Amino acid sequence: MSNRSIAARRASAVARAAASVHPISPVKASGSYVWDADGARYLDWTVGIAVMNLGHSHPRVLDAVRRQAETFQHLCFAVGMHESYVQVAERLGQIAPGPSPKRTFLVNSGAEAVENTVKIARVATGRQGIVAFTHAFHGRTQLALSLTGKADPYKAGFAPRAGEIYRAAYPYLYRNPFGLEGEAAAEAYLAQLQDLVKTTIGESEVAAFVLEPVAGEGGFIPAPGTFLRGLRTYADRIGALWIDDEVQAGMGRTGRWWAVDHHDLEPDLVASAKALASGFPLGAVVGRAEVMDKVEPAMLGSTFGGNPTACAAALATMDVIEEEGLLERAGVIGQKIRVHFEALQARQPRLGDVRGLGAMVGLEFVADDGRSPDPATVQRLVTTCREGGLLVLPTGTYGNVIRLLPPLNLRDAELEEGLSTLTAAIESVLEAVPTPA
Ligand SMILES: Cc1ncc(COP(=O)(O)O)c(C=O)c1O
Repeated sequence: MSNRSIAARRASAVARAAASVHPISPVKASGSYVWDADGARYLDWTVGIAVMNLGHSHPRVLDAVRRQAETFQHLCFAVGMHESYVQVAERLGQIAPGPSPKRTFLVNSGAEAVENTVKIARVATGRQGIVAFTHAFHGRTQLALSLTGKADPYKAGFAPRAGEIYRAAYPYLYRNPFGLEGEAAAEAYLAQLQDLVKTTIGESEVAAFVLEPVAGEGGFIPAPGTFLRGLRTYADRIGALWIDDEVQAGMGRTGRWWAVDHHDLEPDLVASAKALASGFPLGAVVGRAEVMDKVEPAMLGSTFGGNPTACAAALATMDVIEEEGLLERAGVIGQKIRVHFEALQARQPRLGDVRGLGAMVGLEFVADDGRSPDPATVQRLVTTCREGGLLVLPTGTYGNVIRLLPPLNLRDAELEEGLSTLTAAIESVLEAVPTPA
């Protein structure tokens, strides 16, 4: 068995649409590393797209899952109320942003979590309008896809989209069209949003605003605090809800449990998944009790959602994050990565922007004109990093951002290893390849 032989079998058995960024076939993963079928070892700064925040095969998670699977494996919550579901709901209620009492509903994935937030918001408000944002990614089911902003390759060809969804501009400060910076740019985005709602939708028609606090697939773009605070105030004023999609940014990735915790804000509904159960399929909607309780019994449900093994993994994951101090560690890692690449940016102007929140860092590459997106360089960087033993992923609406998602418990030496491999790749690719300006 080799990478090549698996690729050949894949070509005749697997749907072409299910693509892989890296042409490797992982056979083993432990801690911060992955090994492929050819015996190569890689430092993993993708962690299964923001899932394995505790690194691969954390023994505490595996023990919890093993114990639960040996006790009982599946009992649908719609049949009987197994305790691990209730425990996950209790724990999420404790760590969810804001002081209001909370209720939780469990599903299997991020898309399902987001879909359910929309269903709940519509029932709770009696309104239909949903405002989503440019550069958004909320999943691939039909409603989540309709909320997603990036057309290619996610939406094109899959019309018709769900109704009553409106699109506002995400506060992407690096590319803002106002010619403003910082607070002033954030205020301008807010004013534009309010104008859109008033003139195109009608304030009394909006059920909810759905926003990623750090746009993930859009390019690791943190929404500024000014914008989020303004959104909270505006939603309250017009009687709409704020749905906070923390599927990628949540569960400690940014150095707090939730990205919105950096701004001490309380959304009405939070969607979580990905790192919630360290690779076991689990998604959650955690919302203010007042909102969640408006939905009648049996209106929501899922056969596998909140399955006991995934719940056991989620409980162990939350324990490990607390006991190993991984929120603090995420902050330290992120700061170190940003300082490192800001220094490199001074020598490499085609590294146009270094941004992020905690250990969710994006590097945006541009052409010599200092502005045009340069996805070709990012593709070369992804390959060069892999050849040097580091797995990273591209992201961004324009495909010109490298996203860095190291495990939150990686050792200092592993952090140095990743920084030096990526820096060498950037220097060699930017020096070797003429700018595409
Ligand atoms: C912010 C965000 N929301 C929702 C989703 C969809 O999650 P899933 O792939 O588990 O359906 C993703 C996946 O990348 C995401 O990043």
